[in-house]
Amino acid sequence: MVITKEKPALLGGSKVFSEPLPKYISTGVKETEAAIQVLKNGVLSDYIGASGPFFMGGQQVRALEEQWADYFNVRYALSVNSATSGLHAAVIAAGVGAGDEVIVPPQTMSATATAVVMANGIPVFVDQEEANCCISPEAVESAIGPRTKAIIAVNLFGGPAQVQHLRELADRHGLILIEDNAQAPAGKHQGRWLGTIGHLGVFSLNCHKTIQCGEGGIVVTNDDRLARRVALVRNHGENAIEAENWYEDADIVGYNYRLTELQAAIAQVQLQRLEELTQPRLKIAEALDEGLSEFKALRTAKVEKSDRHVYYVYPIWIDPQQAGLSRDIFVQALQAEGCPVGGRYVRPLYRLPLFQRLQKESKALVSNSSGCPMAEKAYGETLLTTTLIQIPGAIDVVEGFIAAVGKVLAHAEELTHQKGK
Ligand SMILES: Cc1ncc(COP(=O)(O)O)c(C=O)c1O
Repeated sequence: MVITKEKPALLGGSKVFSEPLPKYISTGVKETEAAIQVLKNGVLSDYIGASGPFFMGGQQVRALEEQWADYFNVRYALSVNSATSGLHAAVIAAGVGAGDEVIVPPQTMSATATAVVMANGIPVFVDQEEANCCISPEAVESAIGPRTKAIIAVNLFGGPAQVQHLRELADRHGLILIEDNAQAPAGKHQGRWLGTIGHLGVFSLNCHKTIQCGEGGIVVTNDDRLARRVALVRNHGENAIEAENWYEDADIVGYNYRLTELQAAIAQVQLQRLEELTQPRLKIAEALDEGLSEFKALRTAKVEKSDRHVYYVYPIWIDPQQAGLSRDIFVQALQAEGCPVGGRYVRPLYRLPLFQRLQKESKALVSNSSGCPMAEKAYGETLLTTTLIQIPGAIDVVEGFIAAVGKVLAHAEELTHQKGK
């Protein structure tokens, strides 16, 4: 039921949520037991940065990788110590080097594009689709040139980019498609797991994700050579190529991107619980979809039947004209009600000082001379997100959230008048 008469908290009324909402914690007894077992064994990591049986890590790392490959039906799953290092390894594995261009979306976590910079490549920012803020295949196609080596698509907020379309495009042009799937474990596109449609897919196991081991990542691929190159980047590959007779990859600089045994043991339990931890998000998202559908000025993610959005966060788009208030005042007013919302997501990356400098040096590009209007619109006017879907038991407070939205929108004029545009 939408409460419209009550004054919004931002105008001096009482808050919908007077107590802070609980935090998402995904780990429990089973993870604790798995960690204790590793501690009792005393082998906290079991890699050796040289060729031999431990070049590919210890027992827990290998078990995790086997389970991950099984779960997502891929030939190779290689664990790394973050999705950032996984993206770096994937970009190097794709053959990106000095002066090679990689097409990336603008509204994403910075590591999507810094991974390219770390490999001495040139990130080329192209616009996103209005519908889901994921990279636009049309914009990608028009940015492909003689120096393009790869495309990175991000399955943003837990929902699919048009990765099948992008894979076909990449194959047609002889490019490598990397899926940055940090936010979408267990998401699907056209019935297939997200992260497995590109030539390489990168998952994150950091503490903000649906499943986690504190920090960590997994790179998946079905390609022998790409898998081998990721393994070389992960663990001082320059030391291993001689004995392994991998001379065609001899110029790779290896890093230490190794996941520990402790983290791998925790991640195994989390993987077994992925569906259990995803389901509550889907239920809350369904209730939010339904509740928010009565507000014509708001739009939520449209999910095709053969796709699955897994809601890392729940995105909402506002039409400020129709709502009669700006996105920023809307967000401010919802926050005053105690709702867990944030505006804007992230600044289009080409605006960050790093990428501004790199653009001046022709080491980063914005592909179209008219910039990325969809990214600017989402960032400046329309996009907000809520982490309500992460909160344990939040299904019971969806009604309160919808009531807060109703209260704020019913006082749009007053809020705009008092808080300014
Ligand atoms: C889209 C995206 N890519 C990459 C990363 C980097 O992940 P990690 O923290 O595991 O390095 C994140 C983390 O939030 C992300 O959201």
